[in-house]
Amino acid sequence: MSKMRLGILGGGGDSLIGIVHRIASGMFDEFELVGGCFNPDPIENKAFGKKIGIKEKRVYENLESLIETELSLSKSERIQVVSVLTPNFLHYPMAKKLIQNNFNVICEKPLTTTYSEAQELELEVKKKDLVFAVTYTYTGYPIVREMKQMIKDGAIGKIQKIDLQYYQGWINPIIKDPELRKTVWRLDPNKGGLSCCIGDIGTHAFNMAEFLTGMRIDKILADLNYLYPDNEMDVDGTILVRFSEYCKGVIRASQIATAEENSFTVQIYGENGCFKWNQENPNYLYHLMEGKPIQILKPGNPYLSTFSLKSSKLPPGHPEGFFDAMGNIYNGVAKALNEGEISDGSYPSINEGVRGMMFIEKVLESNKNGNKWIKLDQNL
Ligand SMILES: NC(=O)c1ccc[n+]([C@@H]2O[C@H](COP(=O)([O-])OP(=O)(O)OC[C@H]3O[C@@H](n4cnc5c(N)ncnc54)[C@H](O)[C@@H]3O)[C@@H](O)[C@H]2O)c1
Repeated sequence: MSKMRLGILGGGGDSLIGIVHRIASGMFDEFELVGGCFNPDPIENKAFGKKIGIKEKRVYENLESLIETELSLSKSERIQVVSVLTPNFLHYPMAKKLIQNNFNVICEKPLTTTYSEAQELELEVKKKDLVFAVTYTYTGYPIVREMKQMIKDGAIGKIQKIDLQYYQGWINPIIKDPELRKTVWRLDPNKGGLSCCIGDIGTHAFNMAEFLTGMRIDKILADLNYLYPDNEMDVDGTILVRFSEYCKGVIRASQIATAEENSFTVQIYGENGCFKWNQENPNYLYHLMEGKPIQILKPGNPYLSTFSLKSSKLPPGHPEGFFDAMGNIYNGVAKALNEGEISDGSYPSINEGVRGMMFIEKVLESNKNGNKWIKLDQNL
């Protein structure tokens, strides 16, 4: 079977996430990067395209020229899937044009800058029967997938409490200096969207909570911190969450947690046990059971579920990390493209991106209204 032809928007040599997508897309030999627009600066764009071996004629100046030229090619040559890896404010206009022109899309989170934009994209995707993934990368770790499967199989019983915390410290030295702040697009509402911290990392925690438990968060109460009166974007937040009156918990996110790197910790408590996992040490899943010794599960071992084992490429003891997690999401997208729609958790769907945007908007609303409880989805 020939490889699927991939295009990329953004993710140039100066970016954080570009290299992750390029490596991840090639990991299962399912995609070939054939074109894209990697940088808005034409010189940088061409130089980068050349460096990574893209044919000159398929390094496009912008999305419009990509669409026009690709649509003029035969179906057997045309790009089939486009990954959108630009700053947040470009996700919606780019994804919309791609959908309208029948390209499948892999889009970075947060999906858009508003909930209504996200809903609009979801409607368009449904009409067109396209594959649309939103890269909540952490759901791709093999041992996270094991945690999901074990929770589903009842390993810790009925879930009664969750505690997810994503703490970074990189904005701490920047936020103190108003001039430095201007150099970071995540702190600019015109580019980052409504929220910095919750949009950037709180949304990962929200998605993970729903991915692992298979349940939907119903209500939230948020308390955000902007730290300085002249800073427009949240840099820290604590959010109480309720799945139901029975199951409650907390999502904490911060980018001013001094000296933290990417400490994303997940704790899920059931009626007879709990799971603990930390992104900085992603190959260890701690399973605690009442009255029994702790168990530590590691990827690639035969005692794991098929869902987890299919997400491992190496024998046990070879660490699998962030690149591998993204690789598994690309693998899920390839499966969906080859076999039709699937909803088994092997890639995060557009609906997860839409819920992420709903969460961000409602968190801001709760905080603005004096830290009030808010129902997330009025239709449920
Ligand atoms: N899934 C994850 O774990 C994860 C991690 C990091 C970033 N992200 C997301 O990825 C996106 C990009 O983040 P980043 O940290 O890589 O940003 P970045 O600023 O490091 O890189 C952005 C890239 O987009 C390019 N770009 C900007 N405007 C463009 C345009 N009009 N056309 C083409 N290219 C353009 C820039 O040249 C640059 O190469 C964001 O939405 C962010 O939230 C996700």
